[in-house]
Amino acid sequence: MIPTLSWTPEGVRFIDQTRLPLEESYVVATTYEQVADVIVTMVVRGAPAIGVSAAYGVALGAQHSESESAERFAPEFDKICARLAGTRPTAVNLFWAIDRMKKLFADLRSKGASMAEVKERILAEAHAMYDEDIAACKTMGAFGGALLPDEGGVLTHCNAGALATCGYGTALGVIRSAVEQGKQIHVYADETRPFLQGARLTAWELTADGIPTTVICDNMAASLMRAGKIKAVVVGADRIAANGDFANKIGTYNVAILAKEHGIPFYCAAPWSTIDMETSTGDAIPIEERNQVEVTHHGGKQLTPHGVGICNPAFDVTPAKYVSAIITERGVLRAPYAESLREMEMAAQ
Ligand code: MRU
Repeated sequence: MIPTLSWTPEGVRFIDQTRLPLEESYVVATTYEQVADVIVTMVVRGAPAIGVSAAYGVALGAQHSESESAERFAPEFDKICARLAGTRPTAVNLFWAIDRMKKLFADLRSKGASMAEVKERILAEAHAMYDEDIAACKTMGAFGGALLPDEGGVLTHCNAGALATCGYGTALGVIRSAVEQGKQIHVYADETRPFLQGARLTAWELTADGIPTTVICDNMAASLMRAGKIKAVVVGADRIAANGDFANKIGTYNVAILAKEHGIPFYCAAPWSTIDMETSTGDAIPIEERNQVEVTHHGGKQLTPHGVGICNPAFDVTPAKYVSAIITERGVLRAPYAESLREMEMAAQ
């Protein structure tokens, strides 16, 4: 399995996703501040991976604390959580993971737990999130794999794979599962300008698995759909609002419109930790604006003239009306999503 991130005695070890596919190298974050930095610089990226990384960041912060009691550790804990929460705004998994740690710590504090117990329980919680993430990917993969055609092209955008999770992937987990079910899938991977998660990361992990993959430039999808080469689209999500609108990598919305126009099913695969029932529609999802250099330069080389205007929103919102199904570890949801999401949320309580 691709070692996206792992806990080691030295700290959290990450495969450096900024260097893939040409170089397979690793970065070890030994402090929570370094975990925050690897999230901001996208050494680690992808909503579920960011969430679990932040959880391990909190665990690192606790491990290094010299506080003698949970009470004394409390202001430090708040500072650690605030730093990690300030890294990337769109993927709700980050806030979900930090909130889960906050609830645990509040509980431990109210029970007068020792600092040794706080350290142990926070680390155990991060490990639990790691294991749950892989299990969720496998389960949603099985649900989603059944929806894909027995053979033909499947388009994906960005990287919602093992590299974006603790392993197996969401959208790519669906594809992996379909392949394991014996389906003859050929993946078309949008290159995903400007950070090239599709060309670099999806292509790397799928070819490593022997899954036939063709990289296309983002502007080629319509033409391939018209030629009948795409039988389904499956993408991940960074935040799914209560009405089924969802944020994902910039360009996802374009693909959704194209799929609708060509009568192609468009699936969104994500764990329940990506669903944000507090956000009523996609309009309320905060969209990260990233550094213009990601657009103006590539491989250290400038592409655009000095002084030209640049915008670089990292995500867009796809309205629920374009989504054929939302695939989660709890099951497959269909429209109207406001109802199906609410019902599934209540069933789990
Ligand atoms: O900016 P990134 O690379 O973190 O964006 C990643 C995506 O948009 C993914 O599709 C999403 O996080 C789902 S990952 C399972």
